[in-house]
Amino acid sequence: MNLFPNPVLAIETSCDETSVAVLVGREVRANIVSSQIELHRQWGGVVPEAAARAHVEAILPVIGLALETAELCQDDLGAIAVTNRPGLVPALNVGLTAAKALSYRLKLPLIGVHHLEGHLLSPLIENEVPFPHVSLIVSGGHTEIIEVRGLGDYRKRGETRDDAAGEAFDKAARLLGLGYPGGPAIQRAALTGTPRYELPKGLKGATTDFSFSGFKTAVLRLVEREGDQLNVPDAAASVQETIANVLTERALRAAEDAEALTLAGGVAANSALREKLRIGCQQRGLPFFTPSLDLCTDNAAMIGFVGSIRLARGERDDFNLDVASGSEIPGLK
Ligand code: KG4
Ligand code: ZN
Repeated sequence: MNLFPNPVLAIETSCDETSVAVLVGREVRANIVSSQIELHRQWGGVVPEAAARAHVEAILPVIGLALETAELCQDDLGAIAVTNRPGLVPALNVGLTAAKALSYRLKLPLIGVHHLEGHLLSPLIENEVPFPHVSLIVSGGHTEIIEVRGLGDYRKRGETRDDAAGEAFDKAARLLGLGYPGGPAIQRAALTGTPRYELPKGLKGATTDFSFSGFKTAVLRLVEREGDQLNVPDAAASVQETIANVLTERALRAAEDAEALTLAGGVAANSALREKLRIGCQQRGLPFFTPSLDLCTDNAAMIGFVGSIRLARGERDDFNLDVASGSEIPGLK
């Protein structure tokens, strides 16, 4: 895999984490994440304008800290990579403006990166993953199964028809009174619970798609039906078990003829899901790769990695580079 030879500084501000990374080839020299979780907790979700303001406050100190951690100065850098799509527009704009300013002042090439391509290729940062492989990307906004034939050569093999898996975790957590962000809260509560409540797995049959809207309604009904009798750890364990089972089943189905299976995105931090996929792949003799936890949830290292691949191919963006709230991964058919 060809990577840009000089240090790449990468910026990610698509949602509620201000993240800046420095990569030299495949080596992640720094990957700083300044989280806004405490700020958004009062509203129970991310408020775009508040996120943008917090990015403005954090971006310069986080860039400084990333360079300090990487033991490099601005003049050592060779390129700037930045998430420009998809995400919250006011939040994306903060990162893009900072990236353009650095690129202009330091006279460095600039490359815009698709956030989901960052997640998609994140398992390749630490592992030699064979092609073609199938990737399950599960985050707060996306749930997709994508075949990775090569870099920039992707085929969609499955997707959610309504909510993302992360949204299902977040909404279930809210209904169970476990707060925000929901995924980690459910995982914590599930530690002492037993998955004894029956919840629906969505679509029937040999599909590789997902549907979580009925699941959400079922959690609401469960909460209403059980009232004070509801055992919250058992409910959390049931939510986690159901979501992890459905994700595992469909990903394994989609990966039947692949060389490997990868798991990426914020929900990939879920230990039950990691374990189920690891065991399922082991039983099938299918190599399984998932990044370390800090490369699963939103981070700039994965943006720098994709940026480095694209820069090494000679791709560049100019100062007309813009943000977009939604867009398909480049090269996805
Ligand atoms: O990829 P990500 O950090 O941001 C997006 O691009 O959306 O994913 C965030 C999602 C949230 O829905 C969060 O609840 C979920 O990932 N998440 C988890 C865990 N950690 C984060 N879900 C289940 N278990 C976890 N440990
Ligand atoms: Zn993400």
